[in-house]
Order: sequence, then C-alpha cells, then structure tokens
Amino acid sequence: MYSKIIGTGGYLPNKILTNKDLESIVDTTDDWIVERTGIKQRHISEPSETTSSMATKASIEAIKNAKINNSDIDLIIVATTTPDMVFPSTACIVQNNLNIKAPAFDVQAACTGFIYAMSIADNFIKTGSCKNILIIGAEKYSNLLDWSDRSTCVLFGDGAGALILSANSEEGIISTHIHADGQYNNLLDVKDDHIRMKGNEVFKVAVNTLSKLVDETLEKNNMKKNDIDWLVPHQANLRIIKAAAKKLSMSLDQVVVTVDDHANTSAASIPLAFDQAVRDGRIKNDQVVLLEAFGSGFTWGSVLLRY
Ligand code: COA
Repeated sequence: MYSKIIGTGGYLPNKILTNKDLESIVDTTDDWIVERTGIKQRHISEPSETTSSMATKASIEAIKNAKINNSDIDLIIVATTTPDMVFPSTACIVQNNLNIKAPAFDVQAACTGFIYAMSIADNFIKTGSCKNILIIGAEKYSNLLDWSDRSTCVLFGDGAGALILSANSEEGIISTHIHADGQYNNLLDVKDDHIRMKGNEVFKVAVNTLSKLVDETLEKNNMKKNDIDWLVPHQANLRIIKAAAKKLSMSLDQVVVTVDDHANTSAASIPLAFDQAVRDGRIKNDQVVLLEAFGSGFTWGSVLLRY
C-alpha cells in the first residue's frame, strides 16, 4: 500500500507587507533583502487570525480538492511552531472547526515540521492504520518576530498549507528521510518570545546538510538526478534554494519558488508551494517530486514522491 496525495489547499492572509514597507520599520532596504534572500514581500495575518483559523481554511480547500468528505478523514496532523496556545493542540482546534471525529495531534520540528508530519502520516498509512490523513503546515510567525531586529523580522511571513494523503495501490510516497542534531540548538531559537538567529552560520550548515540529504535520498532509491521532475524546497532563502538546485543539476524552472511572495513561512512553506504548483498545473500526475527542508534544532528531512 502506498500513500498518495489526493488533494491540496493553501491559505495566505490578504495583508501584504513589502520590503519597502519594512524600510520604515527597521534600518533595511528593499535591495538588501532581495539580494540576500530573494524575498520581495510577505503575508501578515490580522490580529483576529490564528494558526488554527488559517489551518482550517487551507484544510477546507484540500478536502474539497480531494473530493472526499470530512468524515472520511481518520487522522489530523498539524506541523507548527506557532500553535494558538500550549494546549489544546492546534490539530484539536482544527478538528473541532471541521467537525471531524478523528485523532489529532501537533508535530514540532520547526521549518522541517511538514516533512516530519508527512513521514509520520506515510507510516500510519503503510501499516494500514489510516486511509485518509489531513496534514497541515500552519504558522503565524508575525507573533514571534522582534520588529526592531532587522536581521530576523524581514525573513518570515504567515500562512497555511494542507494536503490529504490517502492509501492507494498506485505508487505515491517513495521514501521519507528525517534527521535531527541538537548540538546546534543555539544558532536558531526562540528566547523571550522572539526569534534569534545567527544567520550566516545557519546558512552554511543548511547548504551542506541539504546537499548530503539529496545524495542520501537518491542513493536510497537508486535514482539519478535527472529522474526528478520537480524540487519543492523549504522557502527560507533563494540562495539556499539555488544551491540545492545546483546540487541536483536542475534549472530554476524545475524548482517551485514562493519565497519572493511568501518569505519563510516555516512549516507552511512546503505545502503552500506544493499547492501553488499543483493548482497552476506545473506539477502533473506521475511526475517525481522531491520535497526537502532544514530548520531549527537543527532538523532536516526529505520526501520523495510520485504525484
Ligand atoms: N538589512 C540591511 N542590513 C542587514 C539586515 C537587513 N535586514 N540584516 C542584517 N544586515 C547586515 C548585518 O548587520 C551585517 O552588517 P555588518 O557587515 O555591518 O555587520 C551584514 O548585513 C551582513 O550580515 P550577515 O548576517 O552576514 O548576512 P548574510 O549574507 O548571511 O544574510 C541572512 C543574512 C539571514 C539572509 C542569511 O544568513 C540567511 O538566509 N541565513 C539562513 C536563514 C535560514 O535558512 N534560516 C532558517 C532555516 S529555516
């Protein structure tokens, strides 16, 4: 039995904060942000919007696109680092919003959270425990930002992406790979409710680690670089994304890039990018897609799948 994606959905808040807008908040420039990160703007939620409300909107779309009913879902997993509250989990709030009677829990692996959630869901399907799993990545990072720290506040945004993973006899997820190394925990963390990051040190480890992850994923499946049709990377920085594409000898035309429009939405970035590329017809049935992410912890991981 395979796990196959049968529907995707995404939600981005309407309010847009451009780099130009940020110039009046901190000592930065549009040119600096674009050159160092590729980010042009980010979406920022209203005070009334929560991680669970954004997650719910993305889920409704994913369920509709999967052409199933809420009652068909037998597990909900939310990847987030910005839950509405410590408990109940965001997944339980979404479960109630959608009136689904199924187990629900959150996963916290920072920007790698969605990859961890997919890996967990794939195993629930392979063991026969579940048939249709709602997996969501949702974040309200605007709450975690120190709006006087130019080295972090320009990098992140809010949003939610969701997909339905379903038991299927056709090949879907080919392999999942998840990793963690806690020795780097002080390079990227949240202290006193704000993100602190040693950006250039994180950058170097991220590029090296993602390069090894690509090798690991291809070797495990006896696949070659040109077997992959699409790369859907975590959207932290366009320079990191370009390094991963180069490692795969891929042109940027085969890479789904949303960092310019969304900035880094942490656990939401991969499902949002995936949903966008499915909806606009870039990712097509039967194509091979590599998802990869790196984040605080450090955590990192990949999912190789046939769509
Ligand atoms: N606007 C203008 N200047 C800024 C700035 C901003 N928003 N933020 C930092 N700077 C300045 C710094 O103060 C520094 O100035 P100095 O040379 O006078 O000390 C200079 O720009 C260079 O800073 P540095 O941190 O070395 O820049 P960088 O090229 O490494 O780019 C990041 C910074 C954060 C964009 C980059 O390191 C990065 O993307 N890192 C990884 C991010 C990531 O992947 N995060 C998590 C994974 S989820």
